[in-house]
Amino acid sequence: MSELSSEAMESEFGTVAGWTEEAVRALGAEHAVPAGCRGSGSEGALRWLADALAVRPGQRVLDSGAGVGGPAGWLAAARGVRPVCAEPMGEAVHASRALFGLPSVVALSQALPFRDGSFDAAWCLGVVCTTEEKAELLGELRRVLVPGGPLGLLVFAAVAPLPPPLPEGNSFPTPDELDALLAGAGFTVTATATADLSDSPPEWQERADAVDAEVERRHGTDPRWAEAQEQSRRVGRLIGDGVLEPRLIAAVAST
Ligand SMILES: C[S@@+](CC[C@H](N)C(=O)[O-])C[C@H]1O[C@@H](n2cnc3c(N)ncnc32)[C@H](O)[C@@H]1O
Repeated sequence: MSELSSEAMESEFGTVAGWTEEAVRALGAEHAVPAGCRGSGSEGALRWLADALAVRPGQRVLDSGAGVGGPAGWLAAARGVRPVCAEPMGEAVHASRALFGLPSVVALSQALPFRDGSFDAAWCLGVVCTTEEKAELLGELRRVLVPGGPLGLLVFAAVAPLPPPLPEGNSFPTPDELDALLAGAGFTVTATATADLSDSPPEWQERADAVDAEVERRHGTDPRWAEAQEQSRRVGRLIGDGVLEPRLIAAVAST
């Protein structure tokens, strides 16, 4: 096993990332952003974050835990920046380079290979709940941002006790834990919202579904596909039951 905390996560974020790249290449480039947003979901959520962070052309932007690069690819097209992607799974790093032409490095968010103050803005979507090392992750994001630089997060927060079965390898913070972690890392929260993960144009979901169908056609008998699907189903059930809430957070690094 490499650096993620469960084999199911390695299937979901590694193997399936490679399969996603393969399916997007087969179906066409217009599928890349919708299929490449793994967990950050909706265009509405990305727009909220890009507005809250006031991302402007020419800024140095980091996407930490970038997955296959869908959110960074969207941000590049929508806001005229060229985000740097950092992501621990090699298959996903390959995909973000190949599908979006973005600079991408293999790295955990809690050990970023960048100098202090390298970025004007950063976002980290669907990642805080994949590690126990949340304080270290937020501390690293603070370190690589310029003083006063904005940070955007999508975090799945536990707003009530979570009934099993839980997705393997995840550790969902409560809203209070999250507030304390952000303050402890030197961030001041400037805006929050509950993400509507269905807030995308209809063709977005159609394209994501088409890529999933193509992956299933090619790899549906592989147990890692079933494992990754089960992880998504478990998260979906917790959100549907109202015990897990996708939260958008904008914060600024202390000066
Ligand atoms: C739910 S996916 C979200 C991917 C992407 N941010 C998006 O919104 O489409 C979580 C991502 O976090 C990555 N990840 C897991 N643990 C991480 C860590 N400690 N540091 C950075 N990334 C991590 C996974 O490999 C996966 O690509």
